[in-house]
Amino acid sequence: MDDLFEEEEAPEVLLAKSLTRVDELAYDLRVREVMCDQVKAVTPDMTMQDVLNLLRQEHISGAPVVVDDQLLGVISLEDLIRSMTDNDLEAKVSKYMSTQVIAVNGYDAVIEAVKAFTRYKVGRLPVLNRNGKLVGMITKGDITRGVLGALQQGYHKEEIQKYRASHLFEDIISDRTSLILRYRIQPHDFIHGGTASSLIKRTLLRLGANPQIARRCGIAVYEAEMNLIIHATNGGLIRLEIEPHRILIHAIDDGPGIPDIQLAMQPGYSTASEKIREMGFGAGMGLVNMQRCVDKMSLRSSPELGTKLEMKIYLQYEESLKEPSQSSAEETDQK
Ligand SMILES: Nc1ncnc2c1ncn2[C@@H]1O[C@H](COP(=O)(O)OP(=O)(O)OP(=O)(O)O)[C@@H](O)[C@H]1O
Ligand SMILES: [Mg+2]
Repeated sequence: MDDLFEEEEAPEVLLAKSLTRVDELAYDLRVREVMCDQVKAVTPDMTMQDVLNLLRQEHISGAPVVVDDQLLGVISLEDLIRSMTDNDLEAKVSKYMSTQVIAVNGYDAVIEAVKAFTRYKVGRLPVLNRNGKLVGMITKGDITRGVLGALQQGYHKEEIQKYRASHLFEDIISDRTSLILRYRIQPHDFIHGGTASSLIKRTLLRLGANPQIARRCGIAVYEAEMNLIIHATNGGLIRLEIEPHRILIHAIDDGPGIPDIQLAMQPGYSTASEKIREMGFGAGMGLVNMQRCVDKMSLRSSPELGTKLEMKIYLQYEESLKEPSQSSAEETDQK
């Protein structure tokens, strides 16, 4: 039985090659998106000497021949050499240009230009619009650049999507999942300044958070951490609560408090001592930076109780709209 099968010739199956994103882009991108629209063109009544000058000046190997944007032909280095061998540089372009022009359309997929390059072994192709007017030129280099640019853009988008916040706790099922991180910050402990924030950033990345979010959170916590080190009498506590839909950050201390919060929030306002300023701190930009990095921020302070800074970063925009569902999230925050 086995033999029988072995002798049988394998049926002919055409296996599909796996396609890369680059292959796909050649179909997705349009010629007009990658072409060069600064065309150096000549007219048929210019001389071959003019062509020589143009090619030399622009470092190009050919140019389209147009009248009123209508493409009549192409003049190339090869045509120029012919005219030079004939000692005929004063001749008109129309004498040497080739009128058998292969062109592509701006609305064509880039793959059409790729095919034309392969088929006709040309270095550049004129690009026409719907009305047959010349709108650009395309080279293989333009295609490479266009594809690379699109890949880069796609990569950036993917980076954002890949690290969707839901990845944070994907396999944990519960009514409410959160991870709480706490860091004790010692007063004037400059040596460890920035440790909590960099550990937090690393944790977020390990959890699969979007790098952009991790970056924002890292900066916000850094500034809060430094404020505890610099301004709080006994240092304080950084507390982070990470949930699938948001990160809640608290920086808490027991004094001396901020007498005028509005003033403290002003860019450039700082009570940092000369010594602290000499260390490079005290530009009065910490609170402003935090505000830029988080979605919500509130600062409460009193000389008796100290300062409580609260910041929120939403991990999914849609979730943020749902967020203050009293029953689940906020009510139990501090418990
Ligand atoms: N936890 C805190 N306790 C007491 N005062 C604070 C606290 N945090 C901030 N402040 C006050 O708010 C001011 C502004 O803070 P901000 O972080 O914006 O600037 P800075 O810390 O002075 O300088 P930078 O952050 O640019 O190094 C501080 O100079 C300080 O007076
Ligand atoms: Mg500060």
